[in-house]
Amino acid sequence: MAEEHFLAHGPRVAIRRIAFQDYEEIGALTRESADLHHPWIPTRETSPEAFREYIARFDQSAHEGLLVCLRHTGAIVGGVNINNIVRGTLESGALGYAAYASTAGRGYMTEGLRLVLKFAFAELGLHRLEANIQPANESSIRLVRRLGFQREGYSPHFQFLNGAWRGHERWAVTREMTGTQTPPG
Ligand SMILES: CC(C)(COP(=O)(O)OP(=O)(O)OC[C@H]1O[C@@H](n2cnc3c(N)ncnc32)[C@H](O)[C@@H]1OP(=O)(O)O)[C@@H](O)C(=O)NCCC(=O)NCCS
Repeated sequence: MAEEHFLAHGPRVAIRRIAFQDYEEIGALTRESADLHHPWIPTRETSPEAFREYIARFDQSAHEGLLVCLRHTGAIVGGVNINNIVRGTLESGALGYAAYASTAGRGYMTEGLRLVLKFAFAELGLHRLEANIQPANESSIRLVRRLGFQREGYSPHFQFLNGAWRGHERWAVTREMTGTQTPPG
């Protein structure tokens, strides 16, 4: 993978936008990661049509679909979406993210999500990112805490997952909290 495809990179991983060409690789990674992802994120259909529909969401300016890749091989190790971007006086977005089973727990998502925060604040001009996390999802809470998010509160019956409306903790980080400069203009 040529470095110019990347939006940003750290020592080990880089981030880039998702594309239809990622269908096969993401399909295989998603299948191997069913146990890791359940019951924390919604299960998605894995047909090419469903994937095309899924990535069409990122044609809209309110959604960014990003992948975390190994910097030197380009292999995909995770995904981070910035959903429901609201501009104007909020400049905020909601994060969704997942690692994949064969490469989880090596620090790649910590490095990748840190790049996403920098990209969102310095390049997209966002000001606040939130992550809504089920209280029992300890690795996700550790991840955002490590990156400087603060727990803002608890939202009962927040998201329909795994057959029921699940309450989530709301964690958030602002540009000021990461020390990122305001983008010019
Ligand atoms: C939440 C999730 C994305 C975290 O992914 P991850 O792969 O564990 O993330 P990282 O590897 O960056 O996590 C760091 C862990 O790797 C460890 N690690 C191992 N080697 C490391 C290295 N070389 N450098 C840094 N950290 C390293 C860290 O100590 C840390 O351990 P901890 O979780 O016990 O604190 C993952 O568990 C997941 O996909 N869960 C299912 C989906 C989900 O819950 N999504 C979020 C919904 S809110």
